[in-house]
Amino acid sequence: MDKEHIFFENYARNWDRDRKADARVLSSFMELAAIQPGSVILDAGCGTGVFLPYLSAAAGPDGTVEGFDYSQQMIDVAKEKFSHLANVTFTTGDVLKYHFPEKHYDVVCCLNFYPHVANHSREVIHRLYDAIVPGGMLLIMHDMPRKAVNAIHGGQPVLPPVDVLEEKLISAGFSVVAAMDTDSFYFIKVIKAADEADFVYDDEEPPVQVDTHPAHHHAHHHTETKRVLNRLSRITGHIEAIKRMIEEDRDCSDVLVQLAAVHSAIAGVSRVILKDHIDHCIVDAIQEHDTEAVENLKKAINTFVK
Ligand SMILES: C[S@@+](CC[C@H](N)C(=O)[O-])C[C@H]1O[C@@H](n2cnc3c(N)ncnc32)[C@H](O)[C@@H]1O
Repeated sequence: MDKEHIFFENYARNWDRDRKADARVLSSFMELAAIQPGSVILDAGCGTGVFLPYLSAAAGPDGTVEGFDYSQQMIDVAKEKFSHLANVTFTTGDVLKYHFPEKHYDVVCCLNFYPHVANHSREVIHRLYDAIVPGGMLLIMHDMPRKAVNAIHGGQPVLPPVDVLEEKLISAGFSVVAAMDTDSFYFIKVIKAADEADFVYDDEEPPVQVDTHPAHHHAHHHTETKRVLNRLSRITGHIEAIKRMIEEDRDCSDVLVQLAAVHSAIAGVSRVILKDHIDHCIVDAIQEHDTEAVENLKKAINTFVK
């Protein structure tokens, strides 16, 4: 058991005394999440189960909620409080080691949990991705502002700005539906693509240096081409999956969630291209006094922000 694990074991009996749960914020998380009745839900790092009654109510009698934590003491307290909830079960396990069933959960919640696995973010995100059904959602939530979370962790940036975490989630294959970093909470909702198409999304590959475009007057190097192509493949597959949902006459609200995810993915890929353009083409153009390229950038930005 590492130091942090021992800390949570020892703290479990006093957790609820010290934890200031803001019911309004937790309720607004439920509204933003819009969990469907009948969902199979995992509450990863559930602690003493602060969020379990909310999830239990959303899942309803046809759904299930699994409170999951590596601290046996935390799980024991959660059980004492909530074992009367018929659709709730409890598992003691380490998110970094546990063999989660594949494509099993409709919803995985991480409430105040991510910083504890931030050092293994890539592995954890992949593990959770694999455990989520196609079309299922992952929620990363904090019912306090990001600055306060990082202050609790000794000022370490364990909870990054939403766009940084979004990037990691997109790389793993999720599409972002909502990402909010406010004065009172932090909320990210991402969706796994609606079908089985497992697009290769290998961010580990070295950046590809590409070409000199003959239409440009100056030589420039895009470093993000591979990532952009991967993202576009994923978006194409996602749209194909949405077409199939329409053909199968699937629930309109499910279709809209998937469309929102595509919308956000397109905005994301546009940002990557724009940033690459500014970082490389424009820097070169300024050095070469290529005013036409700078003018073209202004036009591109105008189109992008419309
Ligand atoms: C800050 S507490 C949050 C508890 C609860 N979600 C809440 O909001 O009150 C983080 C929880 O994550 C659990 N945890 C930390 N690392 C874990 C891991 N690798 N696997 C499973 N649980 C872990 C801890 O035991 C602790 O209960």
